[in-house]
Amino acid sequence: MPKFFNKKTLKEIIKHESPPTVKENFISHDECKYFLNLFRKMPVKSIGKNKFMNREESTKIFFDFNMNKKTKSLKKKIEEEIGEFFVNDFQPHLITSRFPLRLHVDTGRNPKETIYKNVILPVEIIYDQTKKKYKEPNTVVFENKWYGESSLFTKNINKNTDFTIKNINDRFVDIVNINDFYYNIKDLDQVNFTYDKKNFFITKIFKKYIKKLCEMKRFNTRTDKHIVNQNKFDKKNYDKYMSHQPYEDCTSLKIEKIIPSKIGSLAYWDRTRIHSSDNFLKNNVLSKTLIALFTSKNKI
Ligand SMILES: [Fe+2]
Repeated sequence: MPKFFNKKTLKEIIKHESPPTVKENFISHDECKYFLNLFRKMPVKSIGKNKFMNREESTKIFFDFNMNKKTKSLKKKIEEEIGEFFVNDFQPHLITSRFPLRLHVDTGRNPKETIYKNVILPVEIIYDQTKKKYKEPNTVVFENKWYGESSLFTKNINKNTDFTIKNINDRFVDIVNINDFYYNIKDLDQVNFTYDKKNFFITKIFKKYIKKLCEMKRFNTRTDKHIVNQNKFDKKNYDKYMSHQPYEDCTSLKIEKIIPSKIGSLAYWDRTRIHSSDNFLKNNVLSKTLIALFTSKNKI
């Protein structure tokens, strides 16, 4: 694993580590609705470098705990649970995921930052009401830790050009090279188009969206250095939770805790923990929305 944190900082980070924890019914369903509306109705959904992001597979709205009395008391309540914390370069946010996040870690980019806990508070889950059965989404926290910078874990490390977009049937599909994809559609309009056996309908709006993805800078680096031995990942757990990620990417990982997304329940784990969303699409979840914080013990 690459050495990233300062020696002293690393010592502090390890000192503050603790097992993943869930506090059920941390806030009420009404409070969840209140925060959801408050953040969605904000006229400005960006803070500094953290720009409002609205993509097919996810939306991020950034907020400040100093907004009003209720957001201030939410911060205080979280501090009573996890201890004093700061939020540095990546501001508190409301994230809506319509496609499950893959294996990653939110360790940040600052070797002097005493990173502390990932904190999530689910506020809305939307199920596909046309389906008979559905199950709540989960977050999968692994035993494996990562002391490098923020990373996405995959064997596909050569390119940083893969994106998940919607096909003609509104299903999410992977495009490995978004630049090549854009090159192939840029002169098309109002036509069906097949790329890598996937079908799309090309419109001006669609092309504009793909162009935006091509120009986007990624925060996380990609690495397969999380694979530290050849121990195969449990196949049952793979089918149950991780089927949105190539099986080989899960090599050497072991599940520590499955955290169900329950409205109003707080969950937190060390920012050095590798984690992932489960493949909630197969449980007929259309989207999940969480308040998410990347906390630290020092102010930068
Ligand atoms: Fe995360």
